[in-house]
Amino acid sequence: MSTFYITTAIDYANGSPHLGHAYEKVLADVIARSRRLCGTQVHFLTGLDEHGQKVQMSAQKLGIEPQQFVDGIAAEFQQMCKTLEITNDDYIRTTQPRHVKVVRELLQTLFDKGDIYRADYNGYYSTRQEQFVLEKEKVNGQWPEIYGEVTPITEPGYFFKLSQYQNWLISHIKANPDFIFPRFRQKQVLEFLKEPLNDLSISRPRERLSWGIALPFDENFVTYVWFDALTNYYSAVKDSGLWPADFHIIGKDILVPPHAIYWPIMLHAAGLPLPKALLVHGFWTMSGDKMSKSAGNTIKPLDIAQQYGVDAFRYFLIREMNVGQDSDFSLELFLARYNSELANDLGNLVSRLLNMGGRYAGGIVPAVAIEEAPEQALKSLWDIVVPELIPACEKFQFHLGLEKINTFIRGINRYAETRAPWKLAKSEDPEDRARLDTSLAFMAEGLRLAATALVHVMPSISAQILQLLGQPPVTQWAGELEWTPKRVKGGTLAEKAILFPRPQTEK
Ligand code: ME8
Ligand code: MG
Repeated sequence: MSTFYITTAIDYANGSPHLGHAYEKVLADVIARSRRLCGTQVHFLTGLDEHGQKVQMSAQKLGIEPQQFVDGIAAEFQQMCKTLEITNDDYIRTTQPRHVKVVRELLQTLFDKGDIYRADYNGYYSTRQEQFVLEKEKVNGQWPEIYGEVTPITEPGYFFKLSQYQNWLISHIKANPDFIFPRFRQKQVLEFLKEPLNDLSISRPRERLSWGIALPFDENFVTYVWFDALTNYYSAVKDSGLWPADFHIIGKDILVPPHAIYWPIMLHAAGLPLPKALLVHGFWTMSGDKMSKSAGNTIKPLDIAQQYGVDAFRYFLIREMNVGQDSDFSLELFLARYNSELANDLGNLVSRLLNMGGRYAGGIVPAVAIEEAPEQALKSLWDIVVPELIPACEKFQFHLGLEKINTFIRGINRYAETRAPWKLAKSEDPEDRARLDTSLAFMAEGLRLAATALVHVMPSISAQILQLLGQPPVTQWAGELEWTPKRVKGGTLAEKAILFPRPQTEK
């Protein structure tokens, strides 16, 4: 069986993790888990992008070595992955020898082929920002204030022949309409490719930037950061035969040019197969603004996960975002979902069942004893929901899958209200006893199915619900999503549980 290999962008090591980073990891994890649940073997890679000017400057400011600086950041990002229950199989850091070695090999290959050449770079340089700036960054003919003095500069360096592969890339994209998901992003790439590509400057003189990978054919230069960073997807698996990747999961800001232009051309020029597809997600915004370190409006994902629970946080991210679009984040939106779909719909259903199971059935799930219209209705609802679930995962429409599951959970609650076991319990009629037992069995079976269907998004909550029902955890979906009350029959119900406590801050 071939392995499904997925990656995320590797995060810049120049600051702490924020919601955007957390989202991308959770999205990739939900994809990885859903594929594993469908029986596919998965390899899931994430990591950290550790070289470059900004990292060098941040370390300098703190008076520490860059390596010490990135070690600290790596610990933070890895802790985030652990806390968010991200099931990555590997974590690559671009300072690791396994990566450095492959970047140098790739550079040498392209240099030997003549696809990397030496030439003078003519441009403008900001001494204050220690970076090249482009003519087009001028505002009303003036350089922006933040650049300070800007001077023309001519500097030798190395260039990668992007231009030579432009037509090949255009045909590849046109011939592979599934290369970029969602489809509408393909247009943006083809639009960019209408203008002639400039060859890419891939080096910086070592005296200006020392924190990078030295060019193997000229140690006075280090590799420009994208050439280094993109190679991680390949360097991490080069020796394990997992290349090419099935999906690179990235944000929309790094599609054009790095992932849609540089990376395919780098691979093709080196004679390597291309990734099968790019999965491009949108941005989390706050009141419409992109969230970023520079904007200073970042939400610390771990604070929210800590306060409201990791699974609730994962649920919100996946429920709220239509993969590919942008989505606004606010505590109000988070609490709205939390209170209605998690605390009210799911949480209440669990406590209701445990409570009534204890009171009316000695804490043991009864067998189904009668089937009437309310039972038929609940089963039919599941029959409508279940065929949608796996296709929603396959099409990355996880938010729609969760919506369906929520519809089903509300259906179970409606069923409980229709049956009103608390009334049936007062009746002397033996048929009412049968209805009471059946209602508990149906609620338990409904919950088993809902918990099973939620496991890729809320792994802990799902396992906890199954345990409360006296059921084993789920590792595969095959055979687990069919309506089978026999499975829950005889299960020992826990006495009580509060899955989603009411937040203190609620208005
Ligand atoms: O770009 N909402 O690193 P990075 C959603 N090192 N996603 C967001 C986001 C937001 N508000 N902000 C950032 C880099 N992201 C490079 C990648 S890959 C070879 C090198 C996403 O830390 C962003 O789109 O700036 C990217 O996919 C990821 O977080 C890392 O961003
Ligand atoms: Mg960024």
